[in-house]
Amino acid sequence: MSSLFKNHDDGVSNNSANDHLHDLIEREIVRDPSRRNMLKSGAALGLLGIFGSAMTACGGGGAAAVPAPGTIGFKGLPISTGDTVIVPEGYTADVMYRWGDPILPGVPAFKGDASEGWELQEQQAGDNHDGINFFPFPGTDGNSRGLLAINHEYINPEYIHTVANFGRNDLLAVTKKEQAAVGVSVIEVMRNAAGKWEYVKTSPYNRRITGYTPVAITGPAAGHALMKTAADPAGTEVLGTLGNCGAGQTPWGTYITAEENFNGAFGSETAVTTNDLQKRYGVASTNSYNNWHKSDSRFDINVNPNEPNRHGWIVEIDPYAPASKPKKRTALGRFKHENAECVLSKMNKAVVYSGDDERGEYLYKFVSTGTYNAADKSSGANLLDAGILYVAKFNAGTVTGDNQGTGEWLALVHGQNGLTAANGFADQAEVMIKARQAADRLGATMMDRPEWVAANRTKSGEVFVACTNNNRRGTTTASVNNVNGSTTAGSARPPVDEANPRAANDWGHVIRINEAGEDAAATTFIWDIYVIAGNPELTGDKKGSSFIDASNTFNSPDGIQVDPEGRLWIQSDGAYQNTGNYVNQGNNQMLVADLATKKITRFLVGPDACEVTGVCWTPDARTMFINIQHPGEIASSTTNVHPRAPAAWKALATEAEKLAWANANPTVFSKWPDGASGGRPRAATVVIRKNDGGVIGT
Ligand code: FEO
Ligand code: CA
Ligand code: CA
Repeated sequence: MSSLFKNHDDGVSNNSANDHLHDLIEREIVRDPSRRNMLKSGAALGLLGIFGSAMTACGGGGAAAVPAPGTIGFKGLPISTGDTVIVPEGYTADVMYRWGDPILPGVPAFKGDASEGWELQEQQAGDNHDGINFFPFPGTDGNSRGLLAINHEYINPEYIHTVANFGRNDLLAVTKKEQAAVGVSVIEVMRNAAGKWEYVKTSPYNRRITGYTPVAITGPAAGHALMKTAADPAGTEVLGTLGNCGAGQTPWGTYITAEENFNGAFGSETAVTTNDLQKRYGVASTNSYNNWHKSDSRFDINVNPNEPNRHGWIVEIDPYAPASKPKKRTALGRFKHENAECVLSKMNKAVVYSGDDERGEYLYKFVSTGTYNAADKSSGANLLDAGILYVAKFNAGTVTGDNQGTGEWLALVHGQNGLTAANGFADQAEVMIKARQAADRLGATMMDRPEWVAANRTKSGEVFVACTNNNRRGTTTASVNNVNGSTTAGSARPPVDEANPRAANDWGHVIRINEAGEDAAATTFIWDIYVIAGNPELTGDKKGSSFIDASNTFNSPDGIQVDPEGRLWIQSDGAYQNTGNYVNQGNNQMLVADLATKKITRFLVGPDACEVTGVCWTPDARTMFINIQHPGEIASSTTNVHPRAPAAWKALATEAEKLAWANANPTVFSKWPDGASGGRPRAATVVIRKNDGGVIGT
């Protein structure tokens, strides 16, 4: 036990506990003004526990003055097309945890040539880091030591394999390496004596959850006929979590990871006539990204037609319990979950917001039946197994065309609103397994690819939704998702509407929602479009909001989070070609919005062809962790070519040829993060600190 809980002495001490306590109280009052009298009385300090939702304790950062919460004080960056991470003057960005870094005792260092087999890969960092959350370490100040849970969304075959193994998914060892490289990492991290963060390579908390780790199925769909397979006749245990995109953190200290593009794992050598359920989720015999079915029949939909039903869920993981079994929480519905933003309602119900990232899909929220008691962490244990899943309908409000309106949360409850056996929903389990089709029946609003949802914990009931882009809204030939759930995923072309106002939305937008009564459990809300992304060098609605200019132009908002002091951080996963509609937008980036003034400022630009995604903080907001995903990726090569892509590669005709070329020349498109030392591109977690120890963003 002593090794688990040893105190870390990093040489940074806090000699002014009273000042920091005062600061903690003030920030908690900002978050929840109703607690002012109680907190000022000093009688309730114990309520500011390590799992409190504010998580704004101070410490560890030195003597920098504390600016007003939420303000922005750094000098914004210009765009960049360099193969590096840049941050503003006065800040430092350190690479900490890269694909292939070993996390268990005795595992050798990453070799650099992709020659590791699955046996080593499952003991190393996975590929394509995405969602990330920080869990303060018990018994510490919470700001210098903790656990990070990190998603590994998918793999880039061109970089993860040797030339001999590239394209060889007929070999189970090749498939299994890819399965070992996805899922989740849990790692212990701490600040070392020099003040720099590192992961603890031999921590007993370190853990990889992969594409074949046993995961329990809980909630209404557990044991349902559609969840049973030959390998799991009870329908209660699935191997692996797939497509782990964004994530969230519960008040009781667990990680909730979102399964997004799981359908790409499935295929078949035998042509399968797909049914409505498969079509509605994009499952087909012909569109496998991974080709795992060639050596692992679990992913052959002809052999195992129910296996896809066991993916597309929110998975809860206890990072503090390394031996615990993850749980797929089916009460939260099955769709391409982008992230899982968890807050408490006024009555302390757990509320989890989640977007379904595909063209024309929906925004959802789950409200638990039970309540959470902050004094008893165990009260959260199974809170996500019972509740109501809602889907959003955005209405125009009293004025049409003003980018704001009213909204309703429509309940996905069996027996209500046409969700009956006669319409294909035999019970609540089927409503959850077929959540997209249930939402079709209810007439939910078809969105421009809802990505992350971010709650503003300094303002109850306020959340932001990133709609990344959608170039397929119809104008003269509009169509909508069929009410009987028979539409193929992403194929409908809805007309523009108040919440999705552009027919050719190449740049995306961010919607702000304010729940009725400032209560996350409300069934109605008001909304407005916070920012319409665009390019000031273009014309008309391509320019975006009036306050978008050269200093803050971006496209395709994806990861968003509100920091502990109330700044909205926006990460992009879009076009980096730097021409045409995206001229002078450079590489993907991270910006921050001052919610008081709406001013958006560019904070970080990523390396070549990457996406910037996932962001979390230590509770004092003085350390920020972000992920750089898919540096050097060329998969969208025909439409999104980096300015420095070589002529020899451009001359190739097919994407398959281009991928094979990149596999044979793995350092041409990016050398980040190992750069001059020569390695192939590696997704990685980056730690950002302000050099004076201050709050990030000030
Ligand atoms: Fe995994 Fe929708 O981004
Ligand atoms: Ca309106
Ligand atoms: Ca994303």
